[in-house]
Amino acid sequence: MNRKYRKTIIAGNWKMNKTLSETKAFAEELKPVLGKHKWCEVVLCVPFVNIPAAVRLFKDTRVAIGAENLHFEDHGAFTGEVSANMLKEVGVKYVIIGHSERREYYNETDFTVNKKVKAALEAGLHPIVCVGESLEQRELGVTSELITYQVKCALAGLDAAQARKIVIAYEPLWAIGTGKTATAEQAGEVCQTIRSIIRKEFGARVARAVTIQYGGSMNAKNAAELLAQPDVDGGLIGGAALKVPDFLQIINAANQE
Ligand code: PGA
Repeated sequence: MNRKYRKTIIAGNWKMNKTLSETKAFAEELKPVLGKHKWCEVVLCVPFVNIPAAVRLFKDTRVAIGAENLHFEDHGAFTGEVSANMLKEVGVKYVIIGHSERREYYNETDFTVNKKVKAALEAGLHPIVCVGESLEQRELGVTSELITYQVKCALAGLDAAQARKIVIAYEPLWAIGTGKTATAEQAGEVCQTIRSIIRKEFGARVARAVTIQYGGSMNAKNAAELLAQPDVDGGLIGGAALKVPDFLQIINAANQE
């Protein structure tokens, strides 16, 4: 973390978990124990149908609500899809784009990721763009090339003011939902690579200001060590964001003075 230059952001990614009543129960449990989290922003990315309720439930807190996906078109004949404007109007602040599960199961590509990033920014949302290598790619030694490609595609065509608003989440595929976390050094190294790509594309000021998260089996036990890396400015958390005590411990790790 480097709080002097950029926000630390702890974001939960609920994926396809929690009904409306479970969302309410989570909020009622979290709110009384949350504290001020002065040093970090807390975001909960929840399933579409739970967004209006989540916005209402967390209205009197500093927890921002995020979506897990969006469509890049504004409106039209796209059955089952949700646009950036629809999200904005119900109070969404952040939106996850290009999560590896969407790339794998729903054919998202680096090109659709770029279109989605632009649509989100145009509507005034902050994209959380996910990038990451598979185990095979890491073993072949092409992690840094792949991450460079993914980040450059995601941010292609943006100006510096837009690039500043992006959050990048480095999520190695082999660490997602597996209980196998990247070491702090591995996470720190790739997040540093991401910052240097941004520096080359948009300059040192933008690079210094962009929040880069780590994601992939981050939990109450390993969060502090990962966040101690200078280029790891937070976490995108799946499994451990579903239980209040675990999520709270990660928030507290990010919130140490
Ligand atoms: P995990 O998921 O924390 O359960 O590994 C992270 C993510 O997919 O964003």
